[in-house]
Amino acid sequence: MFQKIRYQLLLSNLIVLTIILTAFAITVRITFAYSLNQQLIDRLNTLARAAATGIDIEDGEVETDDEEIIAGQNQAVQWFDVEGEFLAQQGEYPLSLPLDISQSLQKQNSPYPAQGLTTPVNDDESGEFVGYVRVSESLTEVQSITRRLDLGLGGGVFVSLVLSGFGGIWLTRQAMQPIEENFQRLQQFTSDASHELRSPLMAIKTNAAVALKYSEGIRSKDSEKFQMIGSAANQMTRLTERLLILARTDKLTQPDWEIVNLTSLLSKLWQFYNPHALRKKIDFKDKIAGNLYLRGDKVLLTQLFTNLIKNAIYYTPLGGVVEIIAKPLGSNLIIKVQDNGIGIAPEYLEKVFERFWRAEKSRSYKAKKFGLGLAIAQTIAQKHGGLITVDSQLGKGSCFTTRLPRVEKLKNKKLYYR
Ligand SMILES: Nc1ncnc2c1ncn2[C@@H]1O[C@H](COP(=O)(O)OP(=O)(O)O)[C@@H](O)[C@H]1O
Ligand SMILES: [Mg+2]
Repeated sequence: MFQKIRYQLLLSNLIVLTIILTAFAITVRITFAYSLNQQLIDRLNTLARAAATGIDIEDGEVETDDEEIIAGQNQAVQWFDVEGEFLAQQGEYPLSLPLDISQSLQKQNSPYPAQGLTTPVNDDESGEFVGYVRVSESLTEVQSITRRLDLGLGGGVFVSLVLSGFGGIWLTRQAMQPIEENFQRLQQFTSDASHELRSPLMAIKTNAAVALKYSEGIRSKDSEKFQMIGSAANQMTRLTERLLILARTDKLTQPDWEIVNLTSLLSKLWQFYNPHALRKKIDFKDKIAGNLYLRGDKVLLTQLFTNLIKNAIYYTPLGGVVEIIAKPLGSNLIIKVQDNGIGIAPEYLEKVFERFWRAEKSRSYKAKKFGLGLAIAQTIAQKHGGLITVDSQLGKGSCFTTRLPRVEKLKNKKLYYR
């Protein structure tokens, strides 16, 4: 049980951390890429300004003041006339796209990735519009920087997750330890208390019984009181027995388990409870397949199915139908205890396995019911690596399905686990 909680804690911790780290990495990536792009545009703007000043565009010729090379490494400058006709260029990485004067920024991916920026050129003196200049820069370096950043961020996230996974294992173990210890102490207490209560309860029961047996000289009112004392003591004995079963099942370890023949266990239970069912004119059917084996504790498994069968008979009115179906299914055994009784409201379906939960809230002493039967049955099933689930419709009936891991008995009597 605690193992499962530990895994769940660890998993939720990792999921939350993955979300946080991914959000962090994406934010860093976007901010960084934006700032790199901004720097590139700034560089292109500066270059465009330099390329547009101190030049003359006349008769399809470009004349710069001193013919200097203004395009830096990875950059290029292209001049166009007022019609957008190409005139001249400088630098290693000019854009190969046709000039598009409708947009100032142009980007190309082949033959090499590059970013271009186009601005109109006006004559220095007259201010007259004389043509366009398009500057560009190769994106190879920017792309390699972002690729390195991606690798760094991805690697960082991965390493952090692995480290926090190990840290999480240690942390959850630390956090769960006191809870586990307290739980064990509580179990021990329940088990000890139930055990210790047995003798005084027995004394009360016996004394009440003795008083009733020799009732001469006792007023009839007092004898009624003794009867009530005896019945309350009986009730408490049953409750302590159930609590003891629960505490023992919680503590159960597997080594002393044996191979249980479930076919014969269920058939015997069916025979035993058939007279009870007949008294309520209930049609008690059985469809139990042969050779159903599992590894477990026979006494506890008997308790599990007794609880389900007793409930089915108890919560089915006169003349109803109760059926036990047991069959293998893959590596499991499926046992259904089905009735057409009063059923359970959908909102209570999840509650029926809780300790001390009952649909009828009033605790009548006559009913002898504590709401522990299904809790005990579920704990036993889980201890055997299985689970009980319930399907029910109010007024139509219920079906409690128990799934338990199966073992197959071979002819030479050796057992082989599925
Ligand atoms: N076969 C059934 N049909 C209808 N209701 C059921 C059935 N089995 C269990 N329940 C409901 O689940 C509750 C819990 O069952 P259980 O744990 O056996 O406690 P108890 O029988 O002592 O009340 C019952 O009080 C009842 O309301
Ligand atoms: Mg019950």
